[in-house]
Amino acid sequence: MHKFGDQYTNSNISRVVLAFSGGLDTSVCIRWLIEKYNCEVITVTVDVGQPENFEEIEERAYKIGAVKHYTIDAKREFVEEYIAPAIRANAFYEGKYPLGTALARPLIAKKVVEIARKEGADAVAHGCTSKGNDQVRFEVTIRALAPDLKILAPVRMWGMTRAEEIEYAKSRGIPIPEIHKRFSIDANLWSRSIEGPELDDPMAEVPEDALEWVTPPEKAPDKPLYIELEFERGIPVKINGEKMDLETIIRTLNKLAGQHGVGLIDHIENRTVGFKSREVYEAPAAVTIYEAHKDLEKITYTPHEWRFKQFVDQLWTDLVYQGLWIEPLREELDKLIEEMNRWVSGVVRLKLYKGGLWVVGREGVYASYDKDLADYFKGWYPSDEEARGFIIMHSQHSVTAYWKRRRMMSNGRS
Ligand code: ARG
Repeated sequence: MHKFGDQYTNSNISRVVLAFSGGLDTSVCIRWLIEKYNCEVITVTVDVGQPENFEEIEERAYKIGAVKHYTIDAKREFVEEYIAPAIRANAFYEGKYPLGTALARPLIAKKVVEIARKEGADAVAHGCTSKGNDQVRFEVTIRALAPDLKILAPVRMWGMTRAEEIEYAKSRGIPIPEIHKRFSIDANLWSRSIEGPELDDPMAEVPEDALEWVTPPEKAPDKPLYIELEFERGIPVKINGEKMDLETIIRTLNKLAGQHGVGLIDHIENRTVGFKSREVYEAPAAVTIYEAHKDLEKITYTPHEWRFKQFVDQLWTDLVYQGLWIEPLREELDKLIEEMNRWVSGVVRLKLYKGGLWVVGREGVYASYDKDLADYFKGWYPSDEEARGFIIMHSQHSVTAYWKRRRMMSNGRS
């Protein structure tokens, strides 16, 4: 067993594997690591569906000084092992954020560790700052998977301001990437996270040019779009009767729902790292799928299952948001949630119109809804006697307490 904290003692480092996005921070990281440790830097870019040119990223890595670069296509794993459980768990963090970035981080960390092992590296590095959740997600995962590997967080260590960082890049001839001047973006298949100084004012409306996936409602088509989404065991399998794999369903819904103005999220988020932040996301597919899935669960589950599931979903979501993907309880909850989703099959009919999303119909294979029970016009009615008996027994706890307390109070108890 390695001593706690050992991973942060960083002398004698000869080969580092860096999680490389191709952005300014991680570009500067390559050179900084080489200068500081006189080490070899191997870069890894994990494809989780972000719209990037991976050849260009590879070229950049070599230009700046990486000795070796890996591009890893992890889309399938991301969809099957991270997004699918999130769908089954209706994973809206604090009711709003569908967890795009939070889901991808542990997977990226896992891939970086795999390459570090393959290359016999003694350290891994990432480009997160000390104010975000992502540093937590990376390092928690690395600590669990590879307790002997050193962890380096250059951006936390170097103490440069953004302006100094740009100066540093220029002085080393590091090509400054086409970064969005005003916003810092983290995108993958499931969501696009947007951050930037002008969004830190919680009163300021999100400017239109920050958005890429969602059409502003006022510019969305004038005709509503109806979509039928079919689920099997909690996972969408068909759009309008056409069978597709989950990645295709997500891409299709990102486009369709986005065009209709659905999926813009603007909320105040309680970060793991001790403060609230204003967060903006575009996640048309995630919002559409979660809402449909929640509705199908509601018609399927008993009230007991449904209430229990709200609690379990939130627990799962909080663990994942907080970077505790490796927590045993997360996996145990996964199994339970998957078991409960065994019954969540059927079709949900959705209407999308100018930023609005409505479930307008649903049909569950295992629905515990019974039209005859609900129908006021015909079908079964309890008898007067049955209804009276039920109401008396149902209310007796409350009625007893109500009168006992009144009596005590009118006797002078306060
Ligand atoms: N607040 C979000 C989260 O914690 C988004 C993070 C976005 N990360 C980024 N590097 N832009 O998951």
